[in-house]
Amino acid sequence: DWTPNAFVEETVEALQEKVGGDKVVLGLSGGVDSSVAAMLLHKAIGENLYCIFVNNGLLRKDEYTQVLQQYEGMGLNVKGVDASARFMDALAGLDDPELKRKAIGRVFIEVFDDEAKEVQNVTWLAQGTIYPDVIESVSATGGPSATIKSHHNVGGLPDFMKLKIVEPLRALFKDEVRRVGASMGMAADLLGRHPFPGPGLAIRILGDITPEKVAILQEVDAVFINNLKKWDLYDKVWQAGAILLPVNSVGVMGDERTYEKCVALRAVESTDGMTADWVNLPYEFLQATSNEIINKVKGVNRVVYDISSKPPATIEWE
Ligand code: XMP
Repeated sequence: DWTPNAFVEETVEALQEKVGGDKVVLGLSGGVDSSVAAMLLHKAIGENLYCIFVNNGLLRKDEYTQVLQQYEGMGLNVKGVDASARFMDALAGLDDPELKRKAIGRVFIEVFDDEAKEVQNVTWLAQGTIYPDVIESVSATGGPSATIKSHHNVGGLPDFMKLKIVEPLRALFKDEVRRVGASMGMAADLLGRHPFPGPGLAIRILGDITPEKVAILQEVDAVFINNLKKWDLYDKVWQAGAILLPVNSVGVMGDERTYEKCVALRAVESTDGMTADWVNLPYEFLQATSNEIINKVKGVNRVVYDISSKPPATIEWE
């Protein structure tokens, strides 16, 4: 029978054997997967683990500073790298979802490569890849259905990096990753954090990305997520977020006609992200949240709620 404690023990031993005295770099994302992978490696090899937390400028509001502090508090050897400008440059003018993902993946790898070179004599790159990432990518390359989505964090690295890959969570589902984190004493708020995609808000802003759009979506998302917490709904939802639509619609404010942006809210129930149902959030919650978004966030005059399940609608809109 699978238990988190046995998994930790076996994995730590296997990592020590595999990695030995080599140096490992790991990209932390702020999410459960990479954090649990880091804890396992930290337990296995201590200071030889070099964690890098990249700000791609597409994180949730205030997440970069908050999460960086949390990691430092966990005793991880972590370096924060603010590469927002580099990501924004790479994304400029791109509106195709796959091209956006590829640009983000490419810059992530470049930033990593730079950081790994600075550490010197690094042999391994650790990743928090979990089983559903593996199958979605395999089906993406294997079947006639062509590419579903290119997950930037799966599928190996370009030759120039010359780093070997270590993925201690490759066989686990999300709920198992959470159980492993809990068994190692990971903080409840980190453990319970909703999944968040590597390309971040870039795949929740339909069309091209600008710093202004990112700022608007961060504000909308913060209202939604804070309200879920306030109403004690956050832990009942598997994943939630807001999407900035490439649509303006007419509104009125006082005597003025407005022509402003529309956002969609999405909240799903799921066990592993492979299938998902939209959550029946209380009307009172939706009403309060919509009012707060429209009152607080300049440039948004309409809020809609996504009532589509997966399949066929994916959780992310891009
Ligand atoms: P979809 O949209 O495919 O998402 O239903 C399923 C789960 O995967 C997350 N997701 C990603 N995670 N890199 C990631 O690390 C990605 O490119 C990516 N695309 C989707 C999504 O947030 C959901 O939890």
